[in-house]
Amino acid sequence: MILNNNEVIELNRFDRVINRKGTDSAKWDYTKNIFGVDDVLPMWVADMDFPAPDEVIDALHARVDHGIFGYTMPGNETEKSIQRWLKKRHDWEIADNIITYTPGIVTALSIAIQAYTESDDKIVVQPPVYYPFFDMPKKHNREVLFNKLHLNKDNRYDIDFEDLEEKLADQKTKMFILCNPHNPSGRVWSKEELTKIGQLCIKHDVLIVSDDIHSDLLLFGNRYTPIASISEVIANQTITCIAPSKTFNLAGLQASAVLIGNDSLKRKFNSVLQLHGLTTINTLGAEAMKAAYTHGEIWLDELICYFEESVLFIENYLKEHLPSVKVIRPEASYLVWLDVRDLEIRDDELKNLLLNKGKLALHLGSTFGENGSGFLRMNFACSRESLKEGLVRLVKALN
Ligand SMILES: Cc1ncc(COP(=O)(O)O)c(C=O)c1O
Repeated sequence: MILNNNEVIELNRFDRVINRKGTDSAKWDYTKNIFGVDDVLPMWVADMDFPAPDEVIDALHARVDHGIFGYTMPGNETEKSIQRWLKKRHDWEIADNIITYTPGIVTALSIAIQAYTESDDKIVVQPPVYYPFFDMPKKHNREVLFNKLHLNKDNRYDIDFEDLEEKLADQKTKMFILCNPHNPSGRVWSKEELTKIGQLCIKHDVLIVSDDIHSDLLLFGNRYTPIASISEVIANQTITCIAPSKTFNLAGLQASAVLIGNDSLKRKFNSVLQLHGLTTINTLGAEAMKAAYTHGEIWLDELICYFEESVLFIENYLKEHLPSVKVIRPEASYLVWLDVRDLEIRDDELKNLLLNKGKLALHLGSTFGENGSGFLRMNFACSRESLKEGLVRLVKALN
């Protein structure tokens, strides 16, 4: 609480600025390794500058106090916490025994590629997109087909379904990796769009790997549809990846869940996990996951309100100070995609200006595929004060 003109004002928990330097934070302590400089404000990698919900921290304290950290297998209570969460937040009922746990979703993508595709098979992705979607298949010698998203006149990304079908129809295409909601565009795909995707994948016998890591962070009343919830046929050909890591800022604890309703697909996935010795997850990650899905709702609702205000703040600030930059309004998550093409600055020069003039570390859009060139991705999961500082630096760099 703070006192202001005799009024008592509740300080929003997300307004607290907490120093993360010196915690081996990838975002704050490794900018030198990643960007070559360390005196920059980091607004790049997708984690938040906020502590997790108190209930999660309390559960971790209690688990640490127990003092024994032997092998952990998330059990019935964790499964129930996920089932309740999906039902309550997304009206999605999932059956028992369909969950497999992995240390992360990038790990899950790698396992899925190994489990369900062969060398030289083709995998379809939709750039601009989270870069491991195309890096990981390439690392496994799979060919990547790019079904490019198109920015429409209302500043929203659309799917080119004709092109998608052409790529799915290729005899060598075995997998489609969907990002729902989509990173970096912030787009929440509609049920109609997902139904069309699902039908095309069924028609051409292509497995759907749906990365739904951002699905809890829904802004401005948008609703998330899990593609596997649309029909049994689609569910049978889909694996869905979810995690509390983005939602509750637990990425460092490395715990995520993969939902595979089709028994034979699940067996294949698990056998590749075992091949890598990935039969269990981190004890504290498992504890945090259960606590977050059980107790995190109120915290999350407050966070979403804070993010919505942050988006409006960004839009207003840039309209006033840098109107040539267009904000692609995120429908989910805390990453804003900025269209800076009107400035006509090459990507290497953008990088130089941001780092050396603005002292700001952002992801260049080209990281997410060639049609991301001329865009920037800014992580706004920080206090409003830090966000304002980031925007001041952005304007200084680009003006
Ligand atoms: C779409 C998407 N998938 C996966 C990840 C990373 O997941 P994990 O840390 O569980 O590997 C991110 C992180 O930004 C992401 O945006």
